[in-house]
Amino acid sequence: MKINQSGARFSAIVGIGEKIKKLSEKSGKEYLFLNRGINAVCNIDLTEVVKRIDFNSNTIQVYPPNSGFPKLKGAINEVYFQGKTNNENLTISAGGMGGLDLVFQTLNVTKILLPQFYWGAYAHISTIRRVPNETYLNLPQLKNEADTLSDTAVIVCDPNNPVGNKYADEEIIETVHKLNDAGAIVIFDSPYRRVFYEREDTMFSKLAELENVIIVESFSKSVGLSGQRLAFVNSQNEEFNRELGIRILYANNGINGFAQELVYELLTSPEGRKAVDDFRLKTVHDIKLNIKFLKEHRILAEEFYKDSDPMGIFVIVNRSEQELLDNYIGSVSLSFFTKDKKEEASAYARICVSAPHEKFVTFFSRL
Ligand SMILES: Cc1ncc(COP(=O)(O)O)c(C=O)c1O
Repeated sequence: MKINQSGARFSAIVGIGEKIKKLSEKSGKEYLFLNRGINAVCNIDLTEVVKRIDFNSNTIQVYPPNSGFPKLKGAINEVYFQGKTNNENLTISAGGMGGLDLVFQTLNVTKILLPQFYWGAYAHISTIRRVPNETYLNLPQLKNEADTLSDTAVIVCDPNNPVGNKYADEEIIETVHKLNDAGAIVIFDSPYRRVFYEREDTMFSKLAELENVIIVESFSKSVGLSGQRLAFVNSQNEEFNRELGIRILYANNGINGFAQELVYELLTSPEGRKAVDDFRLKTVHDIKLNIKFLKEHRILAEEFYKDSDPMGIFVIVNRSEQELLDNYIGSVSLSFFTKDKKEEASAYARICVSAPHEKFVTFFSRL
């Protein structure tokens, strides 16, 4: 059998999770899985929400519309854009990963610029889609070099995965404007932002005004439903949306109707809104306490937060993956998230701070 080898590798993070599970089974010891990229303070409680869903309806049982339920897109427009985008600009995708893959294959650019420390999937998808990728240092560098980036797509991920740092919104908006005006394409992929921001947040509506900005937003993190594989892509560029619509048809033939119905209820019904608010309130409360604890105990690697603030759901700690593992804490070496600073980065690890505070303290007190 002849295979088209992509050159991409399977996620190292999945491998680390499997290794820790085996260690735990073998030793009988409990490990704290901070290597993962999900909110784990609590689950979202859907008990009252699912009661509202009619499982016998065509909405769930029959092929959904190609680019997503119009009513879900309408709700997204209200909740994420204060009504400032429209259904034609929005495409529902199979998770952020599925959305990013479609965006990368649709754009005609010579390269994709990633943050200095970046989520590995960006690089793997760009390898599979045969678009070269490079990295940028920070927002000031993007601003200075915007005029040279007219053939480039730039990823902005804020708060960042893996660093968990957040730049000031004014600085992000100023940088994105500069890139947009220079003809560069900005892919705003920031699925951790809405864990911390309410529906009044105007970032998306400000960015959606710009011709060259593509927003990819996932329901995996901010409503805790990574199992549903649901996200959306927003752009005001008609040609881009038309091609995206064709490619998503032959990739998915519509996105899971149940997931769309569920998220619609979460965004619009009183029961759904309460479930999301409760989930976010508990999650953000424990994340803040965990970051404070790390700061007080000098475990937070402060050098990564000089021009930006540690927000979560990840942070970088000044301990190695192995040292944390020796103390029954799962993490991912920072070296997995960079191309050119691997050796320096291996002294640090990324941990997920979205974990129950009490348990977090118990494990870190042993360090
Ligand atoms: C920065 C970033 N973007 C996008 C995603 C995609 O998430 P999903 O495919 O679950 O929507 C992730 C998931 O970890 C992520 O960390």
